Parts: sequence; structure tokens; C-alpha cells
Amino acid sequence: MAITRCVMLIMILSVLECCKGIQVQPEQIHLSATERIDEMMVTWSTFNDTEESLVKFGNNLTLSMVAKGTSTKFIDGGSEKRAQFIHRVKLSGLKPAEIYYYHCGSAEGWSPLFIFQTFPSGTEWSPRFAVYGDMGNENAQSLSRLQEDVQQGMYHSILHVGDFAYDMENDNARVGDKFMRQIESIAAYLPYMTATGNHEYAYNFSNYKNRFTMPNFKETANLWYSWDVGPAHIISFSTEVYFFVYYGLFLINHQLEWLKQDLEAASKNRAERPWIITMGHRPMYCSNTDDDDCTKANGGFSLIGYELEELFYSYGVDVELWAHEHTYERLLPVYKGKVMSGSADAPYTNPKAPVHIITGSAGCKERHDPFTPTPAPWDGFRSQDYGYTRMTITNRTHLYLEQVSDDKNGKIIDDIWIIKEKHGPEAWN
Ligand SMILES: [Fe+2]
Repeated sequence: MAITRCVMLIMILSVLECCKGIQVQPEQIHLSATERIDEMMVTWSTFNDTEESLVKFGNNLTLSMVAKGTSTKFIDGGSEKRAQFIHRVKLSGLKPAEIYYYHCGSAEGWSPLFIFQTFPSGTEWSPRFAVYGDMGNENAQSLSRLQEDVQQGMYHSILHVGDFAYDMENDNARVGDKFMRQIESIAAYLPYMTATGNHEYAYNFSNYKNRFTMPNFKETANLWYSWDVGPAHIISFSTEVYFFVYYGLFLINHQLEWLKQDLEAASKNRAERPWIITMGHRPMYCSNTDDDDCTKANGGFSLIGYELEELFYSYGVDVELWAHEHTYERLLPVYKGKVMSGSADAPYTNPKAPVHIITGSAGCKERHDPFTPTPAPWDGFRSQDYGYTRMTITNRTHLYLEQVSDDKNGKIIDDIWIIKEKHGPEAWN
């Protein structure tokens, strides 16, 4: 009897030793859109690999459908070489405008239960977005309001225009893990669509490339992609290829050729999806005083402006979303430094150039950036309040933007309607 007990004790101790430090519980769950509206991508992390990567989902709590995906090992470039496994599962055959419940994981451990709603079909509906950049793990001022907005169903998608966590690679990528856990409270409920910023540069943007799953990620590692949503075509691209030359030199032409092809294809599809919207991290214009690239737009040489302004203008891009400056700035329609308003009293009614919005004030440990004392001639509105932008593409002719102030308890401090009877370069005539 004593021998049997001893054997059992040894067996229990062996099992405990074997499982010590095994972490297979899913965390950092987030959704993203794919090229198809009947699909949804689910991405999450575990710190040890699991035999399977599964999502159980359905229109009710029985979660009767199962989708299977894969995992990849991601080793951070820091001194500890911390490893984690990024699981990706694509849900297919989803019905439009339906609510789905899901959880993800494997027989070794499941996530909490989440919920999302698919997009309506076609182009005759009104997508709603929250848009911001530069949100960190520390001082994420907008996060609590976004959590309430999202969970009340205010948006169809989030657009995070670069600079995450500050920085994801810090503390051997523990800061990235903390940040991805923070945003799970919004990103597990709707597509969390991203662009890369300068704060993602470490180890050749490896945390950004590995942690997200944007459309076409296998070919472009999340650096550039486009997707269709309702009456809009949205293009995300990397401004960082122009600044981190060591990493970006071979990517500049690759991305530029892709941008041209994508804009050409979107132009041909404009009768169906009239709005073309771009999102990139570093703006062409700004009136901040921190000597970034955009400050040179005041008569100097802005690299992003030099590289991309003419291209976007020539294809009649309607709205350009930016971040990087830790402020909010709405520009009058501008091209090559010249204001191109629709009319003096209605600048955004049939504007003669793209409308630029810089929204990098969601909050991070670097806090605010200063403005020049006097606004630039192309300034429509600017604010140093923490906050984020809401964008609704109401229909084929009307797009609404408003700026939420966290400093003023959620007050809308700026709002405009962009009204366009025509889209494309012919709108500039
Ligand atoms: Fe930045």
C-alpha cells in the first residue's frame, strides 16, 4: 500500500513538473476583416503551442460551427527571446448583418465568450468607424470611452492609424502583450484594422507584422492592404518605408506600385464604391512644432507630401486619415499647400482636393505635441485635447466626421459633413 501511494505521488509530481509553466490559455483576442464580407479573421496568443487552433461560433450559444486554423511561433527580438504562438482562424460562410457568438482556443483551454456582427451586404449602407492613432499601454486616455462605444454597437470597425503600446517590443514584448490584452475589450468585438507607425520599427516591425492579421497579410505582412466596406474602399499603407531606410528601401517601390494598381482598380469600381479613403501614420501636413516631416509642409519639403500627394490627388482620393502628431487637426481641402475649398462658406461641399484629418491624440506616455501659435492657412480646426474621431460614411454623397474630447468628458468639439456630388479627379474641376 505504501509503495502504491509512493508511486502515485511520484506520478502526480511528474505531471506537475511537466505542466509547470505551460500556458495554453488564449489571450489577446482580436478580430479583423478580410477581403470578403462573409468572412472574419480571429487572432489570439498563447505562450505554449496547442495541438489545434479552433473557433467555435454560431448565431446562438450552442456555438454549433467550428473553424480550424493554424498557429505560428513568434519570437520577440529582445534579449530574452520570449516566444509566443499567434493563432489565426478564418471564419467563412457568414451571413450578412448577423450577430455571431464565438470563443476560441482548443481542448486545452478556451477564451471567454465574445460577440460580433457581420457587415450588411452590398454598398447601400452606412459604415461607422472610430479612428485614432498613437494609443499606448500607459495613458490610453480614449480607451474607456471606446470600450463603452464599441460594446454599445456604435461602430462597425476601428481604424488604428499607427503607433501602438509605446512600444510593443518594450520589456521583451511584455508591453505589447499588455496592450493587446487592453484592446481585447474592443478588438474582440469588431474588426480592428491597423496601419504601422514609427513606434513599431523595432526588429524590422516584427511585433506589428506578427500580432495582427490584415487582408493579404501573407504577402505584405500587414504593411499595406486595402478592403471594401459599404460605399468605401479603404487603403492602409506604411509611411515608415520612407523613414526606416534600412528596413524600407526595398519596400518603397513595391508599395508604390501596389498603391498605383490598387488606386487604378478602385477608380474603375467607383460607380459601385465612390469613396476612396487612405490611412497612413505620418501626415503630409500639420502645424505642430516638433520638427517632424509634416512641419515642413509650411513651405518646406515634406517627404510624404513629395512622394504621395500628387498620386492621391490624381486618383481623387476623398479623405486621408493620419496620426503621429499627438493632436487633432482638420485641414481645409488642400493641394500643394493651396486651399481648394468648395466655396468660402462651405469648404467641404464639393471640395476641390482631398480632406486631411490628423487624429493622434488617443493618449500615450509621450502625452501631447505642441502647435504653432498661429494656425496654417489650410487649418480648419485643431485641438490638443485627448480624444478620437468618429467617421460615418452615410451614403454615396455624404460623409460625416466628428471629434470626441476625452478632456471634455466626451463632448464633440468638431464636426463636419463632406458632401460630394462627384468623386474621382473630375471632382476637382
Ligand atoms: Fe508616430
